[in-house]
Amino acid sequence: HTIYLKDYAPSPYRIVSVDLDFRILAENTTVTTQLTIEPRDDTAPGTPLVLDGDELSLTSIAIDGAPLVLSAYLAEPNSLTVFEPPLRRFVLETEVVLQPENNTPLMGLYRSSGTWCTQCEPEGFRRITYYMDRPDILATFNVRMTAPRDLAPVLLANGNLVDRGDAGDGMHFAVWQDPFPKPSYLFALVAGDLGAITDTFTTASGRKVDLAIYCTHGKEDQCYWAMDSLKRSMAWDEKRFGLEYDLDIFNIVAVSDFNFGAMENKGLNIFNDKLVFAHPDTATDGDYEGIERVIAHEYFHNWTGNRITCRDWFQLCLKEGLTVYRDQEFTSDERSRAVKRIGDVVGLRGAQFAEDGGPLAHPARPDEYREINNFYTATVYEKGAEIVRMLATLLGEAGFRKGMDLYFERHDGEATTIEAFLNVFGEANGTNLDQFKTWYLQAGTPRLTVEDNYDAANQTYTLKLKQETLPTPGQPTKAALVVPIKFGLIGPNGSPMEWSGVSGAEVRDEMIVLNTDAAEVTFTGVANRPVPSLLREFSAPVNMTTNLTQDDQLFLARHDNDPFNRWQALQDVGMALALSATKGTPWSDNAVAALSEAMADTLASDTLDDAFKALSLTIPAEYQIAQNLGSDVDPVRVHEVRSELLKAIFAPLAIQLLQAYRGLASDQPYAPDAKSNGHRALRNRLLGLLVASDAPGAANLAAEQYETARNMTDRLAALGASAYAWTEKAPVLLADFKIRFGGDPLVLDKWLAVTAAVPEDGVIERIRTILADPTFPKTNPNRLRSLMGVFAMSNPTQFTRADGAGFRFVAEFVAEIDKINPQVAARVLTGFRIWPMLEPKRREAAKSVLTTLQSGGSLSRNTADILTRMLAG
Ligand code: ARG
Ligand code: ZN
Repeated sequence: HTIYLKDYAPSPYRIVSVDLDFRILAENTTVTTQLTIEPRDDTAPGTPLVLDGDELSLTSIAIDGAPLVLSAYLAEPNSLTVFEPPLRRFVLETEVVLQPENNTPLMGLYRSSGTWCTQCEPEGFRRITYYMDRPDILATFNVRMTAPRDLAPVLLANGNLVDRGDAGDGMHFAVWQDPFPKPSYLFALVAGDLGAITDTFTTASGRKVDLAIYCTHGKEDQCYWAMDSLKRSMAWDEKRFGLEYDLDIFNIVAVSDFNFGAMENKGLNIFNDKLVFAHPDTATDGDYEGIERVIAHEYFHNWTGNRITCRDWFQLCLKEGLTVYRDQEFTSDERSRAVKRIGDVVGLRGAQFAEDGGPLAHPARPDEYREINNFYTATVYEKGAEIVRMLATLLGEAGFRKGMDLYFERHDGEATTIEAFLNVFGEANGTNLDQFKTWYLQAGTPRLTVEDNYDAANQTYTLKLKQETLPTPGQPTKAALVVPIKFGLIGPNGSPMEWSGVSGAEVRDEMIVLNTDAAEVTFTGVANRPVPSLLREFSAPVNMTTNLTQDDQLFLARHDNDPFNRWQALQDVGMALALSATKGTPWSDNAVAALSEAMADTLASDTLDDAFKALSLTIPAEYQIAQNLGSDVDPVRVHEVRSELLKAIFAPLAIQLLQAYRGLASDQPYAPDAKSNGHRALRNRLLGLLVASDAPGAANLAAEQYETARNMTDRLAALGASAYAWTEKAPVLLADFKIRFGGDPLVLDKWLAVTAAVPEDGVIERIRTILADPTFPKTNPNRLRSLMGVFAMSNPTQFTRADGAGFRFVAEFVAEIDKINPQVAARVLTGFRIWPMLEPKRREAAKSVLTTLQSGGSLSRNTADILTRMLAG
C-alpha cells in the first residue's frame, strides 16, 4: 500500500532509551530488547502501542518485568501490538531469535564472509527487533553483545566502549553506549575476526579522536588511502563549516556484501569494501577519488543526517542532497573545482536527467511511496545536491553559511523537514524562499530556451528566456521555478563585454534570476554583438537550448573564462552534429573540420590542464544523444552515428594524438593526486580516441599499454578501449585479465563490467556462461551489479536488441535474483526506464517483457513497485 506525506503524524508513544542484548552464536542470534517507553502528553488511555517488525518471531514479552498474557498483545512477523499499555513510563522487554546466515536481502543483521554486520537504513532495524522503526523516534542506545571469541574477537557498536570481558565457554562480551539520541536507522553492530589500521585526529577544540578502519585480515595495507581521506574530511568540515566530530571514537568497517556504497551509522560507518580498499595495482584513479568522496560523505553525515536527521523518509533529500553537496565541495576544494563540476554534471545528466525524463520520475521530496528503498535515487541525491547548490548560488557563500549556522543552532538534536531547512536560509538572509521550494516538489528537468538578439543601431542586446517543465507521472501541470543563470557576455576580441544598463528580469552582477515562464533581459550600451556564455558552472539543473551557431560555440570553446562552459561549448558542437546525422541530415565536412581543429587546439593548449583536456577531447555519450532525441530512438543507429562522428573528428588528428600520447609517457611511480590523475586521464583518453578512430596500429598500441601498464588505471583503460571497440586483441586481453586478477573479487568486478559493456552480439552468451558458473556468487551485490547492472544500464545496443533478447535476459535475471536480494533486483530493473523513448519495435518488445514479468506475480515489493510505475507511464 501507498504511504503519503500528508498522513504524517507523530507516534502516540515515544521511546526514550534502548537496551539491546545480542547473544551471537554460530547457528543463530538471540536479541533481547528493553525499550523505555512513554506516552505523549495527549495520548488517550487505551491507545495501542504498535511496533514494526519484518520477518520476526517473538519468543518472549514482558512489561516492567511481568510477562504479558496472550490476550494482551498480538505478535506477527511484521508488527507487534500491545493493546493497552500503561499510561506512564514503562519498560517493554521482548526477545526474538534471528538467522543472520540466511539473511540474503542484506538488511538487518546478516553475515558477510563470516562477519556479523548490520544495515538498518531505512527499515532494516525492524528485522532485528520490534521497534518504532521511524526516523522521528530518537533514543539513546546501550548495546551488550556476547559472541564466540574465536569467530568474533572484534565486537563493535555505536558510541563508546564502556565494558568488555570474558563470558565463559569460549564467549566474550562488549558493552557500547551511544550518548547521542538517534533514530534506529543509525544503529550498527559488527562482530567478526577482522584486522585494522588505527590513527588519531585532534579536533580544533582539542578532542583526541581514535580512528580505526577494520577489514579482512591481509587487506590492512589497502586501507591507508581511506584513512588519509577521513582525516582530510574531518579537517575540512572544521574549516569550511565549523563542524567538529563529537565522540572519542570513529570506526569504519569494510565488508564484502553490501547493498550500496556505505552507511553513516553513528560512530561506526559500515562500507562496501570496494569503497575502502585502494592499491595502485588493483584500484583505478576513479576508485581512489570515489573512496575519498564516500569516506567524506559518510563522515559529513555526522552533522547533516545524524545530529540533525529526517522527520520521515519523504525528507530523505534533507540529509542526502545536503551531504552530497558537501562532499562535492570537499572534492572541489581538494582537487580541481572545474573538473569536479564537469564530472558531476556528466553524471547528473546520465543518471538524474534520465530518471526525470522517464516513467520513474519523482520530486526530490516525493509525496508518496510504496517502497522507500526505491527512493535512494539520483533525484534525491544528485538533484537534491543541485538544489542546495542553487541555494548557495542565490544567497552567496556568506549568506549560505549564515543559513547553515542557523540550521545547526536551531535544529541540532532534531528530526526535521525541508521546510525547516529552507526557513533558516530565508530567515538568516531576510529573503522569501517559497517559490524556490518548488524545486523540491516538482519532478522533471526544466527546459530553458534562450534566444539572443543584437540591435546595432540602438546598441542594445536582448536575451529572451523561456522555461518549461513537461508533465511527469502524477504531475500534469508545472509551475515556474527560480532559475539562477550565471552568465557573461564576451566581446569580439574574447574579453568580457561591458554594458551600461540592464532591464527586464532580475539581474545581479553576473546572474539572471529567472522566476517566470518567460522573460526578456535587455542590456544597453553594448558596443558590439557579444557572444553570451550562459548557465556558467551549470548554475541550474536544466536542459538549455540556445540559438548560438557553431561559430559562436567554437568561439566560446576558445575564449570563455568559465571552464565549464568552455567544455560545454565543444560538447554542444558535437551534439548538434550527432543529432542532425541521427535524424538523417549528414554533417558538412566543414563543420566537422572546424570541430576537429578546435579539438586539436584544445590538445595543444599550454594553459589548459590535462584533466580538463581529457574531459574535452570527446563527444557526448550515446545515452546523452538518445536523451536529446527524446523519442523513437534506435540505439544501434545512435551507436553507429557516434562512432562515425568520432572517427570523422579524430582520425585526421591521429598523428597529433599519437605524439601527445607518447609525450605523456611517464616513469613516475603511481600517485593518487589530482595532477597525476589528470595526466593519466589525458593519456588514456588519447589511447581511447586512437582505438575508436581506427588509427593504424592503435589496437596493438592498446595491447602494448595493457601488457606494460604499471598500475590498474592504465591497464584497465587499455582493456576497456580494446573491449569496447572489440579489436582482434580484445578476447585475448580479457582472458589474460581474468587469469591475472580473477582471484581478487574487486578486480574481478572490473572484468565483469568491461565484459558486460561490449556492444557486440556475443555478449549475452558470454554473460550467461559467467552466471551459469556454480562459483559465481549470486548473493554478492557487487558481482551482480558489475555484470547485470552494467549490461542493463551501459550496454544500450545489446540491452535493447530489436529481437527482445536483451530485455528477456534482464527480466529473467531480475525474477531469479528478486528471491535472493530484492534491492539488487529492483535496481537492475530500472535499466528498463528508457523503454518509452525507444522506436516502436523495441518499445513493444520491452513492454511485452515487462508485462510478462508482472503477470508472473510473486515479486518483492521493491521489484513490483518499480514494475508498476514503469508500466503506468
Ligand atoms: N545513507 C547512505 C548514504 O547515502 C545510503 C543508504 C542507502 N540505503 C538504501 N536503501 N539504498 O550514505
Ligand atoms: Zn548519504
